[in-house]
Amino acid sequence: MLRFFIISLVCILYIPLVSANDALSQRTQKSKMVVKQFMGQLKGELQNAMKSGGPSNAIDVCNKTAPLIAKNLSDKYGWKVARTSLKTRNAANAPDVWEAKVLNMFEERKSKGEDVKSMAYSEAIEVKGRKYFRFMKAIPTGEVCLKCHGNNVAPELTAKIKEIYPDDQATGFELGDIRGAFTIIQPW
Ligand code: HEC
Repeated sequence: MLRFFIISLVCILYIPLVSANDALSQRTQKSKMVVKQFMGQLKGELQNAMKSGGPSNAIDVCNKTAPLIAKNLSDKYGWKVARTSLKTRNAANAPDVWEAKVLNMFEERKSKGEDVKSMAYSEAIEVKGRKYFRFMKAIPTGEVCLKCHGNNVAPELTAKIKEIYPDDQATGFELGDIRGAFTIIQPW
């Protein structure tokens, strides 16, 4: 009888724990899928713009198309979908406290040898009594990114960037650096 009681108790305590974990991993999977769409669409647009008019033309893609893709995905899923970074070009992309904490954690994980490509983090949080799911996925700096975010950005590009973003901090990145992260907030 006592054994039965203990087993029941373990089950009762364990099941909500397992289902909470399941919910977290389901939301994580779906967020990864949405981030993939974001990345795919942006990469496509960026590559086309670079081919047709060079980096100067592609600045408009980053300036207008990236926020538009983010907005469309946010509207489609009813979440907030965006990009952020510890060193932003557009101050509107600056991280909040939670995002800055995760970006710093990503830097630490990278310094311990973790692959940036698959680096992600999910958490269920509570703000003013409401529960939210938050997700971030690191964005590695690739070769093509260096043209606008690297150490040797062409002077005419720098001029155009400075014109639109006088407070630009997003240069000096090297291949493989964490350029920033995709960030998602969902109401639970
Ligand atoms: C043609 C120039 C250009 C190229 C190439 C480029 N970016 Fe950007 N990037 C920009 C501009 C302009 C912004 C500001 C967009 C905005 O206003 O939201 C930006 C913003 C970002 C942001 C949002 C955070 C911030 O700094 O405001 C991330 C993350 C980012 N870029 C990553 C990348 C990655 C990764 C690559 C390579 C795959 C890349 N960029 C290639 C010009 C570029």
